[in-house]
Amino acid sequence: MIDEQRLSSKEQEALAAARAARKRAYAPYSGKQVGAAVITESGAIFASCNMENETSELWVCAERNAIAAAVANGERRFRTIVVIAPDRRYWPPCRSCRQVIAEFSPAAGIIMCNGSGIVHRANLGDLGSIPFTKPESGAQP
Ligand code: THU
Repeated sequence: MIDEQRLSSKEQEALAAARAARKRAYAPYSGKQVGAAVITESGAIFASCNMENETSELWVCAERNAIAAAVANGERRFRTIVVIAPDRRYWPPCRSCRQVIAEFSPAAGIIMCNGSGIVHRANLGDLGSIPFTKPESGAQP
């Protein structure tokens, strides 16, 4: 656990973007608003929030929506992913999000924060994630 103040300025910028996105989360079913932001290898930041639906299979986490925003803007390599959780504990990315992180940047840092500015830093390996691996070759892009 580290204090928010000890994050790099870029990481703090991403956290601020994730916090702002969290306020716009659409979570009327769980009541849990989550924000996330990715820092790309080029230093760009893309933030998003979770988006729920009457059909629960269609819920999408903040992390995957932030990654989708980056991909739609031509960015596929991520240095860091920041997640801001709604309550006192921090939330590690779910299995689906870990799989999507692994697709693009298996070594990305994952910074998990809660509402009180307490931060936990990890990567997929620390979280014990064993994602499916990408095929050796495949269709492009
Ligand atoms: N959620 C995220 O957006 N990210 C996480 O890391 C954990 C869970 C969302 C999904 C759902 O809309 C709500 O939080 C409750 O599970």
